[in-house]
Amino acid sequence: MKGIILAGGTGSRLYPVTLITNKHLLPIYDRPMVTYAIEALVQAGVEEMMVVTGGTHAGEFLRLLGNGHAWGIDRLSYAYQEKAGGIAEALGLAERFAGGDSVCVFLADNIVERGIAASVRAFEASPEGARIVLSPVSEPEHLRHLGVPELSDGRVVRIVEKPEVPPSSYAVTGIYFYDSSVFEIIKTLVPSARGELEITDVNNAYVEAGRMAYDVLEGYWGDAGESIDAYYAVNDFVRRHGANQLG
Ligand code: G1P
Repeated sequence: MKGIILAGGTGSRLYPVTLITNKHLLPIYDRPMVTYAIEALVQAGVEEMMVVTGGTHAGEFLRLLGNGHAWGIDRLSYAYQEKAGGIAEALGLAERFAGGDSVCVFLADNIVERGIAASVRAFEASPEGARIVLSPVSEPEHLRHLGVPELSDGRVVRIVEKPEVPPSSYAVTGIYFYDSSVFEIIKTLVPSARGELEITDVNNAYVEAGRMAYDVLEGYWGDAGESIDAYYAVNDFVRRHGANQLG
């Protein structure tokens, strides 16, 4: 399995700080945000990774990560997204890197308390279709800023992006597993109302084909890019409890 770390976008919800740097380079406790996604993947045994970024601060990723060896990455590639065309468009840039393998896609503003090794093992055991990772979220107001699954009989029935009325009390985290057909699905997408290719449309294509599984994450999950308050909440959590704590 290969890892694809998505670290692009304009970070407009964190303006004006993201006018002068990329959101994923902002600190979470004592190191840049993107390094937590890398750590989670390395811990789970993913040795080959691509970082997809864009905008005016892309060179800083090279300065931080270099060839990746200091961060435990065996082989690190980079891709550059020319415009903020959405998460699914960014993922499409990794098609040749994936080279027919299955992939774990990790949005670099997502931070987890307990790592992702269990989900990586589960997808490696059955690397067909797709697998999403859910996290329990009780506040409807929070869920309205996220993707939310409707669940029935242990299956995902559909995923609604930023729902007015959340169909469950789970968030779809920014950690996704796909087989190689994901790149064909991306080519069929049309831009959403916000002009982007949406990862939720990718996921719903797998749901409709009956090829979607899910896990529920143990421990804390946070999206540090959701708002400046979310950014500080994630910082507070990591400072107190750490992240990617196995076991
Ligand atoms: C994206 C996804 C959303 C998911 C979230 C997790 O939202 O579209 O489904 O719940 O990441 O971080 P965005 O951060 O682009 O608003």
